[in-house]
Amino acid sequence: MSVDPYMRGRMSDAKSYAAPFELGKAMEGGAVGVVEESRADGFAPGDHVLHGLGWREVAVLDAKAARVVDVDAAPASAYVGILGMTGLTAYAGLTRIAGLKEGDVVFVSGAAGAVGGAVGQIAKALGASRVIGSAGSPEKVRHLTEDLGFDEAFSYKDGRVSDHLRELAPEGIDVYFDNVGGEHLEAAIGSLRLGGRIAVCGMISVYNDTEPAPGPRNLARLIQTRGKIQGFLVGDHYDLAGEYFGRAAGWLADGTLSSRETSVDGIDHAVDGFLGVLRGENTGKMVVRL
Ligand SMILES: NC(=O)c1ccc[n+]([C@@H]2O[C@H](COP(=O)([O-])OP(=O)(O)OC[C@H]3O[C@@H](n4cnc5c(N)ncnc54)[C@H](OP(=O)(O)O)[C@@H]3O)[C@@H](O)[C@H]2O)c1
Repeated sequence: MSVDPYMRGRMSDAKSYAAPFELGKAMEGGAVGVVEESRADGFAPGDHVLHGLGWREVAVLDAKAARVVDVDAAPASAYVGILGMTGLTAYAGLTRIAGLKEGDVVFVSGAAGAVGGAVGQIAKALGASRVIGSAGSPEKVRHLTEDLGFDEAFSYKDGRVSDHLRELAPEGIDVYFDNVGGEHLEAAIGSLRLGGRIAVCGMISVYNDTEPAPGPRNLARLIQTRGKIQGFLVGDHYDLAGEYFGRAAGWLADGTLSSRETSVDGIDHAVDGFLGVLRGENTGKMVVRL
């Protein structure tokens, strides 16, 4: 099963796009299970299915809420990661929201995480001239440049984000894929080139804030650069799923795309896995093995 940052948002009753988790009820989330019993056409015992009732070991659900996945083609966990919501988030954000063009200089934060790692690699595959990533440790920075093919990477815990960006992208950036918000967003606006685009995917640096965080102080730069900033939710972009999953399968097969995972074992450690995501203990997608 998958543990994801958006679950943090569902642990609050603030108005949002998804209803809060209910106290006393099992939480939910993406998971791949094995069918034990079914009376529905197209689902036989032993089939692996992707569904939305994670955070439990056994689930009873309507066949309409499940999709059979091929675990011979890819590991089960890929369907909650690179071949699932995570990968599609990266693809939709880059192509549809940021309008990625050949030759663009792309900056992505949270780059060693599930979405961020996919963003960097997909941007390269689609013709970005340079991809720069930020992450929270020297090991993650090495992973980005040595394993995932990022051109440059830096640790945001080591100095100011704006200084790193100015050094690594002296001519500026065309696209910023925001997973983090806060200081990262302000630095990216400060480095935006003419016609730059910012896709706001997530703002994990503020998910635990109890007071509203100050906004970027340099929004006026969007006027000079004619820059655009747009938030998005992957749920609105499932019409791209067929296109993305087809391309991703090819990229995975020829090595253009690779995906790292971090896992914890057992439902008893699911909370540790979830908190680990918020604390940066994962490289790539965090999954719980049941
Ligand atoms: N809009 C959508 O539809 C959509 C869909 C999926 C995900 N998202 C968003 O995309 C982002 C990434 O999600 P994911 O599932 O791929 O998670 P992830 O990146 O695999 O894990 C979260 C990572 O965030 C980093 N982080 C935690 N606190 C931070 C802070 N204060 N400053 C900077 N980085 C911090 C940690 O890495 P470090 O070690 O580098 O700090 C951690 O590994 C999240 O913001 C999530 O909410 C949005």
